[in-house]
Amino acid sequence: MLKKQLFGNLNFVSFSLLFILISLVSFFNPPEKGLAATPQPGDTQTITLFDGPFFNFLPLITIQNLQPSSGYVLLGWNDLGMHCYNRDFKDLAVLPPYNTLWAQVIQRGDPPQIVTSNIKVEYSFPNNTYSVGKSNFWTYAQSLFNLSGPLSENIGLTGNGLSGEMDAKGDHFSVDGIPLTEFQDSAPTSAYPYQLAEIIAKDINTGRELASLTVVAPVSTEMRCVNCHFDGNIDSISTGGIETNILTLHDQENAYKYPVDHTTPLMNRRPVLCAECHASNALGLSGQPGIPSLSRAMHEKHKEIVPNTQEGCYNCHPGPTTKCLRDVMSTEHNMTCIDCHGGLEVVSQNPNPWLNEPTCSQSGCHTDITQNQALYRNSTAHAGIYCAACHDSPHAIAPSNQVNDGIKFIQLQDSPGPLSKCTVCHITQPAEVDIHTTQ
Ligand code: HEC
Ligand code: HEC
Ligand code: HEC
Ligand code: HEC
Ligand code: HEC
Ligand code: HEC
Repeated sequence: MLKKQLFGNLNFVSFSLLFILISLVSFFNPPEKGLAATPQPGDTQTITLFDGPFFNFLPLITIQNLQPSSGYVLLGWNDLGMHCYNRDFKDLAVLPPYNTLWAQVIQRGDPPQIVTSNIKVEYSFPNNTYSVGKSNFWTYAQSLFNLSGPLSENIGLTGNGLSGEMDAKGDHFSVDGIPLTEFQDSAPTSAYPYQLAEIIAKDINTGRELASLTVVAPVSTEMRCVNCHFDGNIDSISTGGIETNILTLHDQENAYKYPVDHTTPLMNRRPVLCAECHASNALGLSGQPGIPSLSRAMHEKHKEIVPNTQEGCYNCHPGPTTKCLRDVMSTEHNMTCIDCHGGLEVVSQNPNPWLNEPTCSQSGCHTDITQNQALYRNSTAHAGIYCAACHDSPHAIAPSNQVNDGIKFIQLQDSPGPLSKCTVCHITQPAEVDIHTTQ
């Protein structure tokens, strides 16, 4: 599909940037003058992408600077910096496969305008078109989530699949609960946490394509409970499986406290959804009365066992391989999980997990900038544009050290971000303003 757009484009010019050296320079030192030559609207560039700092190449991909020439700009991002799900659902589920994308469409002009009517936004994963076979979630979903019937193959808990249309939501578009796995079609057994979605804005009446963008949908199963819950370790439990070791330990410690109607030992009614009893705002489930939230239970129980370091957090959050924290605060200012969230004890005391999180201006950090909502992911600034549209998701605040995160910014403005080029949206260079005020 990319090819078709590419050759159908009259202004077709291709800049082949050959080796890592150039990629390294352009991604770690965002170019001031653009890549090789200043690309013009409609130009295309081919860039060699690589996955780690050295010798881990991804295939050549083509980035097309399509947007500025058209009348519309499409901005897109993931709601969180990472979506974690269980590798195997046979025994237990902490989190299901559940990804969420957001988008805003702007009609270029003087002034520009955010548009939501007469437009639709479609999403797809060109190299990740199915999930059944890559995850056994569909075998256990009905039982885990108490569904009235089996969950249709490749459909997630909210009824969305791996491609479709986003919902118009006032000032933006979004799709919740995409059942995305970390496995591409082309390599269905190697984890690839920074999956690429293609989003396309179209005229609802004519179907004409108005703008498109390549957006990261981060996803990982890297929970390393195995670091400790292996056979023979904790309380000498040895069941032949990590998950069953955990459930056995949980039954030993807590079975006498299980609430009415939930008294059967967890081992005897697998698969077990932790949020059946422990509230989780990630799933919108309120758990059972008198039982700590899942966040509280987990962080409290492991607080003197796991060190208060990033490596400590990476025991359960993805992870030493995935490295979900990849943003500019970590790469340029050496910040770790603890700097923003505190240690396990502090996290365990969060009265409203997932909904009460650090802000950009906390602890004397960016005191000149105010979020207009409690959560970064819901906040807007300049003319109602979401912070994340310009800066990207939490933990991926641009420029991120993951090449894939930079692709969309290069498509929009030829450098990996944040979105700073006024003429991406304005046709002529506007007067200077504080883009962090909400007006
Ligand atoms: C660094 C080691 C370590 C890691 C990693 C770890 N645990 Fe634990 N976990 C422990 C220890 C030790 C205990 C027992 C604590 C005790 O008995 O006080 C425990 C206890 C538990 C319990 C029982 C709680 C209870 O009621 O006593 C559960 C459930 C549990 N862990 C789940 C998990 C899950 C799920 C993961 C991965 C997401 C995980 N743990 C990762 C060390 C670890
Ligand atoms: C049947 C209900 C139920 C389910 C399902 C359940 N738990 Fe629990 N869990 C409890 C109860 C009850 C306690 C004890 C709470 C207390 O002591 O106040 C507990 C305690 C814990 C604790 C220790 C908290 C602490 O501070 O002592 C952890 C950790 C934990 N559960 C994790 C999990 C995980 C992970 C899962 C999913 C694999 C899970 N639970 C599933 C009922 C449940
Ligand atoms: C033993 C496993 C484990 C460790 C270690 C761990 N977490 Fe978590 N964390 C979890 C689980 C499981 C959830 C999901 C709970 C849910 O679904 O609500 C979670 C959720 C969270 C959340 C979102 C919910 C909330 O409370 O706001 C934050 C933030 C968080 N963890 C931060 C951290 C930080 C920071 C560290 C390191 C200091 C850390 N975690 C270490 C298991 C762990
Ligand atoms: C520079 C600050 C910063 C650092 C460093 C950081 N976080 Fe966060 N984290 C945030 C903010 C801000 C949010 C809330 C995002 C929002 O409001 O939309 C958040 C939210 C979360 C959540 C809830 C889900 C979500 O994405 O909203 C989890 C889980 C989490 N962080 C874990 C971690 C872990 C684990 C680390 C280290 C590997 C880490 N964070 C490092 C700032 C940070
Ligand atoms: C229209 C795009 C846009 C929007 C929307 C936007 N920003 Fe920015 N922001 C920028 C640009 C561009 C910079 C300058 C970056 C640079 O100098 O590298 C910046 C800088 C920042 C800085 C660092 C500035 C400093 O004082 O140190 C923070 C923090 C920040 N933004 C937070 C936010 C938050 C929070 C929101 C939402 C309430 C937001 N931004 C909305 C484009 C935007
Ligand atoms: C992501 C798109 C986008 C970017 C990037 C952007 N703007 Fe805007 N800007 C808008 C929108 C939308 C409006 C609202 C127009 C309206 O309805 O009044 C606006 C309005 C304005 C206005 C007031 C109306 C006008 O056109 O005079 C000024 C001034 C302005 N922007 C300056 C800037 C500057 C300076 C930058 C770069 C630092 C910038 N904008 C970057 C989208 C953008």
